[in-house]
Amino acid sequence: MALGFGPLHPLFAAEVGAIDLRRVQDHATLDAIRAGMDKYAVLVFREQPFTDAEQLAFAQRFDGKLHSRTGAAVVGKNRLGNEALTDISNVDETGAIMRADDRRRAYGLGNRLWHTDASFQDPPGRYSMLHARVVPPVAADTEFADMRAAYDELEPAIKAQVEGLRAHHSIAYSRRTLGFEWSAAEEEQLKGAVHPLVRTNPRTARRSLYLASHASRIIDWPLPEGRLLLRDLTEHATQPRFVYRHCWRVGDLVIWDNLATMHRGRPFDDTKHRRELRRVTTLDIPPADLH
Ligand SMILES: [Fe+2]
Repeated sequence: MALGFGPLHPLFAAEVGAIDLRRVQDHATLDAIRAGMDKYAVLVFREQPFTDAEQLAFAQRFDGKLHSRTGAAVVGKNRLGNEALTDISNVDETGAIMRADDRRRAYGLGNRLWHTDASFQDPPGRYSMLHARVVPPVAADTEFADMRAAYDELEPAIKAQVEGLRAHHSIAYSRRTLGFEWSAAEEEQLKGAVHPLVRTNPRTARRSLYLASHASRIIDWPLPEGRLLLRDLTEHATQPRFVYRHCWRVGDLVIWDNLATMHRGRPFDDTKHRRELRRVTTLDIPPADLH
């Protein structure tokens, strides 16, 4: 079937015309969505009545293997019973809104820092698919930044400087910047991963900055210079002209390319309003490994 893509921002992000992703099985439609991802990096699908199982099944049809070695799995048991289905919610296993001093809430607040999903693992996350189940009556938006446009607009001297550099990504590091404390046993499970600072999409040859709050240092650089470079690049990449802000409606499924974007949740009174979303993230493995 022919898909319609309605741009949501001058640089990236589009809303896809009516389609029921639960029923999408054919290669032609899946390929059209993949082509849309290569072009827009963020796609919004409205009115998707997914169950957990249907969301997991679609993610596997779309992009293969799922990421399940999450930081959240180290902090506590997943109330949904499957570590590949990340609970982006502010409720506990009884369904009650988490208290302000709940450790899992403190961990979740890290999603308000600019990041890419699972960059602290190898392979890292490729596509994330976030589905809105319960949306609060107040704004609780997610912002996305286009890291391809950010790369394109770097000064030539900075492009030359970042060429070939690699960064270490650690969720233990990024959570610690917000005051989160890890036990030695937890840190042992979260050693992080090293990734290039610039990535190239193998299908489009477009380059993008690969940054996240998880990026703790530049390999082979002194710590302060590396962290200052990471901060400068993040400031550059998150200027308003590179950012699309998504206002959630129940039933929205948003797919983003973690290798071409960063994102962050925006603040709302999460001790008062219930918000429940489910995320599935696929692994950045070569297409030949897809089934
Ligand atoms: Fe995220």
